Amino acid sequence: MKGRLGEFDLAQVLQVVGIGRQYTGVELHSGSSIAGTIFVKSGKVVYADASGAKGRDAFMKLFRQSDGSFYVYRMPPPEPLPEPIGPLHRLLMEALSQTANDPIVETKEDFEAEAPTRSGVAPPAPGSAPVETSQIRERPVPPLPQRARSVPAKPEGRNNHAVPSSAPATAAKATNARPARTTTPSSGAVQSRAADSRRIVAVVSPKGGCGKTTVSLNLALSLARQGRSVVLVDADVNGDVLSSINARERARVGVYDVLLGSASVEDALLKTVLPGFELLPATGDTLPDPTVFLADHAARWQRLLDGLAARADLVIVDTPAGMFGVTHQVLSASTHVLGVLQAEVLARRSFGRFTEGLDALPSERRPEVLGVFLNMLQTRHAASMSVFQEALGDLPPSWLFETTIPRSAAFLDASSQGVPLRHIDEHAPPAVAFLFDNLAAEVAERLRLPTAERRPQPLLV
Ligand SMILES: Nc1ncnc2c1ncn2[C@@H]1O[C@H](COP(=O)(O)OP(=O)(O)O)[C@@H](O)[C@H]1O
Ligand SMILES: [Mg+2]
Repeated sequence: MKGRLGEFDLAQVLQVVGIGRQYTGVELHSGSSIAGTIFVKSGKVVYADASGAKGRDAFMKLFRQSDGSFYVYRMPPPEPLPEPIGPLHRLLMEALSQTANDPIVETKEDFEAEAPTRSGVAPPAPGSAPVETSQIRERPVPPLPQRARSVPAKPEGRNNHAVPSSAPATAAKATNARPARTTTPSSGAVQSRAADSRRIVAVVSPKGGCGKTTVSLNLALSLARQGRSVVLVDADVNGDVLSSINARERARVGVYDVLLGSASVEDALLKTVLPGFELLPATGDTLPDPTVFLADHAARWQRLLDGLAARADLVIVDTPAGMFGVTHQVLSASTHVLGVLQAEVLARRSFGRFTEGLDALPSERRPEVLGVFLNMLQTRHAASMSVFQEALGDLPPSWLFETTIPRSAAFLDASSQGVPLRHIDEHAPPAVAFLFDNLAAEVAERLRLPTAERRPQPLLV
């Protein structure tokens, strides 16, 4: 994989490659010189160097490089493997927080002035074509980085993000203001609900246009590609999933016809190219009678979603914007909720409704918070980064997913071509598509999904 940092920044590159088990180097170039290299393996930063700096300092320094290009390559790990600098997600969170506090980015010229010489690692062969993670080049000769400076041990733990001491005052306020009965992943009542095998995840956001449909579709696709069986249920007749893939005419009946008993689930379910991925569209040829949106159909939603949960590893429900109305009913029938937070101030302002909307549900019908996902992050925009920073400070530490998705023009291409992101180009999908694999892995881990079944793929159909 290679690309320009202006299009896909280091946070995203490292998120994509960091999940792999292989020993992977990410080399940053500035003009004709190498600014430095970061080596990752199994979610840990093993080593980093950057013109004079090593280890953690080098990582932070490289993180501030805003332009130039990156190259990713795999190699056999050095023996012995240096002691890691730290978990990738924690270093990323720290680096992002620093950037949010101090958004001045070093220019290409700064880097060139400081890094006139190579940093000791040979650049990839010139003229190599851009490739994606699946095609990361194997390096024949492993460089042997010096032993990384060891850092004081920190408590381990997923999502144990460092909350910057300078987090806005609103952060503490919002966290404290959250009523105690709001569901948290450790809440006993919810644990018992989720302890059964049903996994029904409602994807919600108080504000519209945050990326619920985009996330639901691309997440479902990644989970299915990883060998999980998924049913994506579309509960939103406006901005429905089928419109996003330009296939509305494919549906004769939709989920509301099933809810009202005028169609069966089998009639409504659409198959996809992936055997494990089925789609229950919002509507068919005609819109449902609008009274369906006013009546309380929570019990029908529950029956429908329970039935679907019995046939798949998980059910993902894409909901209409807001926490009330249909979304409230879907939430009451779901085991988990995934909140999508757009990394823009307007979305942040309305995100308080997320917990308020959950609190509006009776505790026995309140889904467990699977996590909150930051979409459309713009790491070079102070306003976008302030949303990230506030989310770190305000939300319970275990909520925020480590994967974030940048604002990217690739989504425009996907919608205009009427395909999920990865299907834009099967052989070289846009790099951002791989981030949904990371999100899928996090979702699978948080849901404690059993290990995906991998079946041999028959040649003939
Ligand atoms: N990370 C992103 N970068 C750029 N555009 C995005 C991103 N995520 C979503 N979009 C675009 O934003 C618009 C709203 O997204 P959508 O998924 O329909 O939101 P929602 O379902 O929450 O209303 C769509 O045009 C979609 O392509
Ligand atoms: Mg939508």
